[in-house]
Amino acid sequence: MQMSPNITDVHFPPISEVKRWLVERQNDGQELIDLCQAVPDYAPAPELTAHLGQLLSNPQMSRYSLDEGLPEVREAVCSYYGRKYGAPLSPDNFCMTIGASQAFWLAIVTICSAGDEIVVQAPYYFDHPMALDILGIKGVYAPFIESGLGLPNPETIESLISEKTKAILVVSPSNPTGAITPPETIQALFEVAKRHDIALILDETYNEFIPGGTRPHELFNNPEWGAHFVQIASFGKTYALTGYRAGMLTASGEFIHHALKAQDTMAVCQPLITQHAVKFGVDHLDEWVADNRTMMCRRHDLFRSEFTKPGNQFRLVASGAFFAWVRHPFSNCSGRYVAKRLLDEVAVICLPGEVFGPGLEGYLRLAFGNIREESIPEAVRRFRELKA
Ligand SMILES: Cc1ncc(COP(=O)(O)O)c(C=O)c1O
Repeated sequence: MQMSPNITDVHFPPISEVKRWLVERQNDGQELIDLCQAVPDYAPAPELTAHLGQLLSNPQMSRYSLDEGLPEVREAVCSYYGRKYGAPLSPDNFCMTIGASQAFWLAIVTICSAGDEIVVQAPYYFDHPMALDILGIKGVYAPFIESGLGLPNPETIESLISEKTKAILVVSPSNPTGAITPPETIQALFEVAKRHDIALILDETYNEFIPGGTRPHELFNNPEWGAHFVQIASFGKTYALTGYRAGMLTASGEFIHHALKAQDTMAVCQPLITQHAVKFGVDHLDEWVADNRTMMCRRHDLFRSEFTKPGNQFRLVASGAFFAWVRHPFSNCSGRYVAKRLLDEVAVICLPGEVFGPGLEGYLRLAFGNIREESIPEAVRRFRELKA
């Protein structure tokens, strides 16, 4: 059987690749420190789990819902957006999805056809170019500039726009660097999108980990936002529900109307139990989310102060929300080589920089958000131990 070269040419999912190393690893008794896949280490709020437990005995819970999700769930999300973004959105602006991952596919297939281009800020979240390649859409990459922490520069992005460009894609807070794109830059990117009559797609999967719960941007307060802005959202990290696949696409009512054609063929709907989990979260868990955000900020502060103490050959380049982006000290060695040595010699698992963009072999991504404060000094000690 023949398969599409669009998919056979795409590299294997990096997290799966790195997790396979674990199977081959000789266990020397040292406990593994997992800085690989970004997953909050804590359990969902117990009151949320108890609520879902009660719902499970209701046979309605095993049915489909409307493709876009239950009206009461999207109403509840509207109130939450009112609090978070200060914005008057309507339930028609939301489609509940199978994680932010599916929201991204919906956004892309609604905006692009094969042969189109999207300008993507590097370092990127690796799933994004994988999806673009599979769909035959060309990613045009805005280069990573270390001194600028990899934040998007609107002029650079604009210079990469051609007549085939249909969108600009940015992730903030960034996976892999943790850096937060300032609201003014997001506004400027929106203006670029508007000037070229294209879309700004902003993946805000980690928006609840911005210190102080600061508003990520003011775009939703522009009555014209829907003409050029599409948001990818996830409740997976926010409520520690990554396995529930709790994502959402936010866009104009017209955009959602068309996206629902793809939704119907891809997923039909987000599982009802997940929708109820999201509703419970947005109705009841603002404080729980704020407490976890504060805890993540403490982890970040401690990680930074430990990592930057003298004697560490690895150099912290950028960090924030959930991640640290570090330069490794092994010259002419790939990130894969260094990540494998970290696993084999000091039992730390993390991701090689090159999976986040071309030319990024000199870097590693560490998801410090996965580990508790008390484990951070030991994690950093292990980096010090591995000498170039
Ligand atoms: C930037 C970014 N977008 C999307 C996703 C996927 O999120 P979800 O689990 O909601 O599909 C992730 C997961 O790590 C991510 O880091």
